[in-house]
Amino acid sequence: MHSKSKKRAAAIGVPKIGKKESEARSNFVRGRFKEDIAKITADFTSSIDIDKRLADFDITGSIAHLYALRKADIVGEKEKKAIEKFLLKIKNDIKTGIFKFDKRYEDIHMNIEKRLIELAPVSGPKLHTARSRNDQVSIDFRLYVKNEIKKVARILLDLRFELVSIAKCRTGTIIPGYTHLQHAQPVSLAHHILAYYEMFTRDFERLKNCYGAADVLTLGSGALAGVDFEIDRRLEAKMLGFAKISRNSMDSVSDRDFALEFNFTLSMIAMHLSRFCEELIIWNSEEFGFIELKDEFTTGSSIMPQKKNPDVLELIRGKTGGVISNLLSLFIMMKALPLAYNRDMQEDKKPVMESADTVYNSLLIFKEIIKTVNFSAKNILSKLEDDFIYATDIATYLVKRRIPFRKSHEIAGQIINYAKENKKTLSKLKVEEYKKICDVIESDIFDVFNPLTSVNSKKSYGGTALNRVEAVINDYEEEIKRDEKFLERLK
Ligand code: ARG
Repeated sequence: MHSKSKKRAAAIGVPKIGKKESEARSNFVRGRFKEDIAKITADFTSSIDIDKRLADFDITGSIAHLYALRKADIVGEKEKKAIEKFLLKIKNDIKTGIFKFDKRYEDIHMNIEKRLIELAPVSGPKLHTARSRNDQVSIDFRLYVKNEIKKVARILLDLRFELVSIAKCRTGTIIPGYTHLQHAQPVSLAHHILAYYEMFTRDFERLKNCYGAADVLTLGSGALAGVDFEIDRRLEAKMLGFAKISRNSMDSVSDRDFALEFNFTLSMIAMHLSRFCEELIIWNSEEFGFIELKDEFTTGSSIMPQKKNPDVLELIRGKTGGVISNLLSLFIMMKALPLAYNRDMQEDKKPVMESADTVYNSLLIFKEIIKTVNFSAKNILSKLEDDFIYATDIATYLVKRRIPFRKSHEIAGQIINYAKENKKTLSKLKVEEYKKICDVIESDIFDVFNPLTSVNSKKSYGGTALNRVEAVINDYEEEIKRDEKFLERLK
């Protein structure tokens, strides 16, 4: 370092990195700099703690690039073999934990390349020909996202399978259906559970779509303008398993749509899971008593011995906030970036990795909880004794006797009022009392107060009638088989 700049650095109190370190660094990317990087700059700009998770993808990507370099005759056969061998050694050293990550080399790409150059000082420095960290980080991130999508999709499909299995055993269990968290109309428990199957199936489709968005090879874009050599990008795509190659190098190095789409899908899954958790928390309460959670998935209270708390469900619900915030972080980070790569984009990994981990782990434990949940048929049935839940069925009874719906609705309301005022349930009213309010009512009105009759009368396609639910379960089983095949193809 020049003595002037040394003095200046000392004056502003910024410690420099040591001589040995600065040599290593300047050999690497600091060719044009006269001054060393300040330690706080090195620390501030380093992303190795986060992007070291991309190590395997980085090496896989480098090997594909190496083959393209060989094909373009930029490296010889011997050099290619040596570089490949050392890259695989580094991969193994990382796996076994003997690799030393070093903050001074900023990120995973430079840590690996630095080590490669140590191991192969002559051929190693050729690897970065016709490549930039900008296309390298893009390809690594795409490989990572594709892999995470596969993991999340696998577990999501398992959950969908569980929901269908539960529904198959619970078609005939009838529960109160709610709107505004008030008793609305009786529904099959299977129908309720399968509403979540529908949500998770849409999420699965979303995962398929964002897999497509990530499945584009961006390697070979260079820093932003493309590269000077005859790099066979199709060969790279084939080696790395990408369906397409990107068409615009500037877009390639600065596109993070695939990450945003993935984070959006993760947010949707988290939101759906959170709603389901909320529902189970309510069902698990003393007031509802519809379900009992397995001991393994509940916690006790430090002072109240009677408690068995649904903490896991609450945490899944709670973590949803973080997942949605990560989507926003990514959007906000991207929204004002001019083309092409900007260092802001280094902040893209954390929100995606965090959300992918959270959602994956939430799905994993939620699947176990729902699989082992115990439904209390007795408690559920007791809630159906509230026969005001059949108010809409009374209106339907009247419509079938040619009274227009609006009028029928009003009469049913009068009946409810009458029953409430006289402190009686609907099934305990006498037929004469009914007739006083509306004379078309006969003694068959009492057939209405039956959960099964009520449910089976909702026979529109998509309704809760048991035969409708059974039929749709068959469709779902076929759909699951199709999605299994889709996942097989991604392997
Ligand atoms: N660590 C950077 C990232 O994750 C790698 C790309 C760096 N490129 C650059 N021109 N500084 O985004």
